[in-house]
Parts: sequence; C-alpha cells; structure tokens
Amino acid sequence: MAHDLVFMTGATGVLGQELVKKLLLTTESDIAILSRAKNRVPHAERVRKILKAAGMDAHFGSRVRVVEGDVTKRKFGLKKEDLDFLERECRVFYHIAALTALNGTDKECQQINVGGTEHALELAWDLRKKGNLERFIYFSTAFVAGSVWNYRSTEDSLPEKPAFANYYESSKHEAEGKVRKAMGHGLPVTIIRPSIVVGDSVTGEVSDFNVIYPFIKLFAHGILTKLPTHPENTFNIVPIDFVINATTAIVRNPRSINKCFHLVSPEPPSIGSLVALRESFPKVAKIEMIDPSSFKKDQLDPQGQMVFSMLEPYLGYLNGKLTFDTSNTEEILRDTDVRMPETGPAFLKTLITYAAKAGYLAI
Ligand SMILES: NC(=O)c1ccc[n+]([C@@H]2O[C@H](COP(=O)([O-])OP(=O)(O)OC[C@H]3O[C@@H](n4cnc5c(N)ncnc54)[C@H](OP(=O)(O)O)[C@@H]3O)[C@@H](O)[C@H]2O)c1
Repeated sequence: MAHDLVFMTGATGVLGQELVKKLLLTTESDIAILSRAKNRVPHAERVRKILKAAGMDAHFGSRVRVVEGDVTKRKFGLKKEDLDFLERECRVFYHIAALTALNGTDKECQQINVGGTEHALELAWDLRKKGNLERFIYFSTAFVAGSVWNYRSTEDSLPEKPAFANYYESSKHEAEGKVRKAMGHGLPVTIIRPSIVVGDSVTGEVSDFNVIYPFIKLFAHGILTKLPTHPENTFNIVPIDFVINATTAIVRNPRSINKCFHLVSPEPPSIGSLVALRESFPKVAKIEMIDPSSFKKDQLDPQGQMVFSMLEPYLGYLNGKLTFDTSNTEEILRDTDVRMPETGPAFLKTLITYAAKAGYLAI
C-alpha cells in the first residue's frame, strides 16, 4: 500500500459499497475496511465478494485491506497489528456504520448508533494524536432533526428537543451531538446528512432494498390500504449516485472541514405522485388517504392495526413536515459538476421499475 489511506466503517452497506467503488475508481487512495463475519461468511470474504460482484476484486489485498471489528466494541475490537497499521497510515476516516432499520429497538440503536459513534470518535482522536489523521467524515441523517414536527432544519445546528418518529432518528441525533462536540474540541469533522437514499438516478439500481423500500412494498402489494396523509404532502428521497458524487466532491474540498451538508431533494415528490403510479403499474393496489387529524389507529380492524404498526416508523417521512436548508451543500457543489437531484414522477417510475425487475416488488 503506497498511497493515502482511507479507513471506512459500514463499507458492506448500501452507501458504503458504492463509496468504496467510487474511491477505487476515481482516486489513488488505498482503503482499509472494517468488516465482521456474518451468516458464517468470514469478514474478509464478505468484502472480497462485494468487490468481485463489481469487477474490482483485483484491488483486494493491493488497494483494499480488510480489518475485522465491530463498532459496538471499544476501538472496534481491532487487533493490535491493525490498530498500529491505522495509526501509521490512516489519513481519512469515514464512519458510516449504523443500524438503519427504522423499527430498531432503543437498545440496539443506542449500542450501534450512539455507542458505535463514541467508539469511532475515541479511535479518531487516537489516530489524530498518535498518527496522521487529517479528516473524520461522519454519515448522519437529515432526520436527526426529527421527522414528525414542522421545522426547517439548518446545516449548522442540531435542534435540542426534536420530535422523533423512531429510535433510529433519536439515536442518530444523539450521535451527531457527540460528533459536533468533538468538532468543537478540534477534531476536523465533516458531517454528511442524506435524506432517504434510494436507487440510481438513471437506472434505479440499488444493492439492497432498505429504509423506505419496505414501505413501498406494503403499499404496492396492497397490504397497506389506508394512509394517514394528504396527497400534496411530500417525502424526501435522494438517488444514491447523487449522495456518493456529492460526498466525494465535498470531501475533496478542504473548505468542508467543520461543516455539515444536507444531501436532500430540493423538490421532493408528493404522496399523490407516488399513488398515481398505479396508472403505469395497474397491479399496484388502491390506497385510501385519510386526513391525519381524523385518523385513529384503534378504528382499524385487527389486521389493519398490525399493518399500521409496521407503518408507524415511516409516518414522519410521508408527511413532509421537516424541511431542509441546503446552503452549505449548494455553495460547495457550485464549482463542481454535481447538481442537486431531480426526484419527480419519472424518477419514481424508474425506482419502481427497477425494484420490480430485481424481484423485490411483485407487480
Ligand atoms: N440509506 C439511507 O436512506 C440513509 C439516509 C440517511 C443517512 N443514512 C446513513 O448512512 C449510513 C449508511 O446507511 P446504509 O443505508 O448504507 O446502511 P446499511 O445498508 O444498513 O448498512 C449498514 C452498515 O453498517 C454496518 N454495521 C452495522 N452494525 C455494525 C456493527 N455492530 N459493527 C460493524 N459494522 C456494523 C453494516 O455491517 P454488516 O454488513 O456487517 O451488517 C453495514 O456495513 C448510516 O450511518 C445511515 O444512518 C442512510
């Protein structure tokens, strides 16, 4: 390994995989990836498989080194030789790992999202003091500001008492607070806050159908028949290629140090435009929209109540109450070729078409 070293957690996830590919294709950096064994597949083999699927396995062992660890452990439980290696080589540290399940329990979200970030910060300080760390890039979420209240979220602040829809949001808020504190104490931090990440802007492609996709499935398969929202309410989604291209452009610019960036759609689609996709996909079930102020869960039949419980973690995302200032993002992307994304009906159709083609949606 001869070039600058990037260390990344969460590289086996949806965003991390794409970021690794982008860094391998567009930079000369070497990458150290934190990985853990899963479903009996050893930690390094998982990464090798991901690179192989992308036709990039030639980099395995030359530009990519895999270190075994778990973010819930102090120093990620890294072996001494791996810690020494990171101390010697690491210049940029991306902390991306998180539990992204919107129905995660308080305990799980605390352990992985809050505890994991505390451990990442502790390690980052060590690499900064004893080694050569120049940047700490933290993947937060636009929903740290809480999705269930009327609020305009700015990039330079974190509200003290937001209204959260789930433990994912509250744990990411607490974790970002810790990252901001470290920034205040001199750690060179950049915070990336995407909204809901979906497939590629042109092809709709995505490696896993997480976060908002299970909701789309409930709706498309006719499991969800009643939705407490208005057709004009919006939901903020961003294509994954925009998030990756914007992140790398932001990190490339030294002015992004000690700043936070909203990676969101400037014109999010409406629920009405999602429901109108039935015109293109006639098998998608009909849905009744109910005024949220008169909606009562206990008026639903037992099956409806069960389905509604599955929907509850998503409700904030479907009512567009939270809006986002994007001054920092627009300013820093102005001199690059990365444009704010378009997420209109044509893009929604692309996403659904890809999810159906990939077998995720039976429509
Ligand atoms: N996707 C979105 O819509 C979205 C939107 C806004 C912000 N974000 C943020 O962006 C980041 C990446 O999201 P994503 O959608 O790519 O997530 P994802 O697909 O769910 O992947 C999560 C990643 O975290 C790793 N991880 C979880 N627990 C871990 C542990 N205990 N130790 C080590 N690694 C662990 C996973 O490793 P394994 O493969 O081993 O499980 C995986 O690599 C997260 O911080 C998320 O909060 C995502």
